[in-house]
Amino acid sequence: MNITKILAIETSCDETSAAVVADGKYILSNVISSQIKFHREFGGVVPEIASRKHIENIVPVVRRALMEARCDFEDIDAVAVTQGPGLVGALLVGLSFGKAAAYALNVPLIGVNHLVGHIYAGFLTGEEVNFPLISLVVSGGHTSIIYIKNHGDFEILGQTRDDAAGEVFDKVARAMGLGYPGGPEIEKLARKGDAQRIKFPRAWLEEGSYDFSFSGLKSAVLNYLHNAKQRKEEVSFEDTAAAFQEAVVDVLVEKTIRAASEKEVDTILLVGGVAANQRLREEMASSADKKGLKLIVPPPILCTDNAAMIACAAYYQLKMGNCSDLFLNAEADLQL
Ligand code: KG4
Ligand code: ZN
Repeated sequence: MNITKILAIETSCDETSAAVVADGKYILSNVISSQIKFHREFGGVVPEIASRKHIENIVPVVRRALMEARCDFEDIDAVAVTQGPGLVGALLVGLSFGKAAAYALNVPLIGVNHLVGHIYAGFLTGEEVNFPLISLVVSGGHTSIIYIKNHGDFEILGQTRDDAAGEVFDKVARAMGLGYPGGPEIEKLARKGDAQRIKFPRAWLEEGSYDFSFSGLKSAVLNYLHNAKQRKEEVSFEDTAAAFQEAVVDVLVEKTIRAASEKEVDTILLVGGVAANQRLREEMASSADKKGLKLIVPPPILCTDNAAMIACAAYYQLKMGNCSDLFLNAEADLQL
């Protein structure tokens, strides 16, 4: 029996990651080297620093991925790499390495869209994934509801018109003096807070719309904090975090469930960095359950950026003959 081993590289933002995945489902290794400590003092990702750190990390990270997978370069059947969207300088590091590796090994090169990678994390859970399905992709750069009829067949039903969900988590966290990335920090605080005490707005937009808008919510939270400070009133950061998180979760869950009903699918796939949020996972699970929908959510480590999801997406692209040539270029705003 022939097993296809794909070496994947992901360098779209601030994680240098390399993975070896067999047959699109067995993770042999998934090494993630986070640069967070280098960006933290700036309150967000600094693109120049990200590129430099990727250059320093890429070789050791790939070596470790091969070692953990008990592989040599010669065992690799194809090389996958994130083409975009992301920071162009950061993407170029992984892309250059991936091209060189594919050329030297004389194996196919597969350029993968980062969003598609997030979606395919759902195929690494060991659960059966049946089409058609609705996927909510929520990350630091994207908030999209996608109708997926089959492998490679994606239709965006709605997306954010301003900030992505992860981005507002990061901005609100920053306004409260919390560390970067803000999502996990807000989640931790929210656990100790009362989500009902403060009311923040939910932007439902036009009737039937699957788009999102989070900038109004962000302003409402920032104004609330600012006004309280002006009046020298004490603010409960726990309650603020909980009320903010609830406002984000409410809209994400309601629109995703509505899309699933309208498209008459049986399965919802919740992916992307914000899908690591426990409150979102719980609420999506309970709403899906009420409607008799199956919910697939990868473990948190496969929700945030990692190369295993890129390898998995690449496996299905390889099967469809969707490979790249050595002219493949990084695209900061690559569309689905
Ligand atoms: O998918 P990802 O690792 O990178 C992008 O493609 O953007 O997502 C990162 C985003 C950040 O904005 C981070 O704050 C958010 O995901 N995030 C969370 C949680 N963990 C990460 N947001 C809410 N709750 C979390 N537990
Ligand atoms: Zn991502």
